[in-house]
Amino acid sequence: MTAAVVIEHLQKSYGTTEAVKDISFEIQPGELFGLLGPNGAGKTTTIRCLCTLAKPDGGRVEVSGFSAIEQPRQVRRCLGYVAQEVALDKVLTGRELLELQAALYHLPRAAAQERITQLIELLGLGEYADQKTGTYSGGLRRRLDLAAGLLHRPDVLVLDEPTVGLDVESRFVVWDFLRQLRDAGTTVLITSHYLEEIDSLADRLAIIDRGVVLAEGSPSELKDKVGGDRVTLRIREFTPEAEAQQAQNKLQTLPFVEEVILNTAQGNTLNLVVQRESNPLTQIERTLHEMGLPTFSLAQSRPSLDDVYLAATGRTLMDAELAAASSRDLKQEKKQQMK
Ligand SMILES: Nc1ncnc2c1ncn2[C@@H]1O[C@H](COP(=O)(O)OP(=O)(O)O)[C@@H](O)[C@H]1O
Ligand SMILES: [Mg+2]
Repeated sequence: MTAAVVIEHLQKSYGTTEAVKDISFEIQPGELFGLLGPNGAGKTTTIRCLCTLAKPDGGRVEVSGFSAIEQPRQVRRCLGYVAQEVALDKVLTGRELLELQAALYHLPRAAAQERITQLIELLGLGEYADQKTGTYSGGLRRRLDLAAGLLHRPDVLVLDEPTVGLDVESRFVVWDFLRQLRDAGTTVLITSHYLEEIDSLADRLAIIDRGVVLAEGSPSELKDKVGGDRVTLRIREFTPEAEAQQAQNKLQTLPFVEEVILNTAQGNTLNLVVQRESNPLTQIERTLHEMGLPTFSLAQSRPSLDDVYLAATGRTLMDAELAAASSRDLKQEKKQQMK
């Protein structure tokens, strides 16, 4: 079976910025694939190379067996692309915008009308289709973008951060729609810097950071690889640090406990990594009880994608986002100073 998308050792620089250093992944037909990474990781650059909007400096990029570099026209025919931010003409109605888009794709008129009616229905745009897009909410606009990307019935739909800036409800609408599309056989590639989004949507994902792929697999495969469950523990509502340290030292000696981290920033909470096969909570509680220490709260959870990200990169996605934001601020400041 031909893969829906093949990206192999993709490289792309802008001047001295290596936006994509070495990115490889494959997507099989009918998969919903997520590209997860913080701002500046190289997601949009990868997508732009895939959609024939940017020319790679190196590597292989293929859609349904067509080369994005040598056969851009065939690639564009197989692909629907929903860009990160779309500037809509606010004077046209939703329907007019879709008609214009259909003409750009050279869709025959009757077929275009039928498809537009169908998409308006599918995306719940009925009441709004004949209103000017200037009156649309963010969520409605995104649904219209989706309709536009799907007009020519692409095999592969590519969406770059489709839910940024949307309220929770609109986000769920988009998620549901993407799942339906996947279930109906369309291959979907979505980028995001939201962990929960990729976790709940993607069949498989690649974690990228600073232009390289750090991990790839299904959400549960990746979580299994990071190892044991997490246990969060507080001894008292306000635990003295000395007491927390005493507990930490003791818990570290338990055979099923891999690691105990004392988080002083969060009121001396203890974070443990424990082997999954054990029944840790009872044993932890008993151990503390024998030391004369009560337990205020105790919870066990599977590793999250954030733990996966942390294991792969040595920082949490949140920290990576903050770092990206502050380097943007610094650049902004420098620009201001140079004026
Ligand atoms: N057109 C461009 N010109 C110069 N630098 C760019 C351009 N596009 C992206 N970059 C830089 O490449 C890096 C990756 O950006 P991008 O692919 O947009 O990441 P993401 O979509 O993951 O946020 C960033 O450092 C960004 O500033
Ligand atoms: Mg981007």
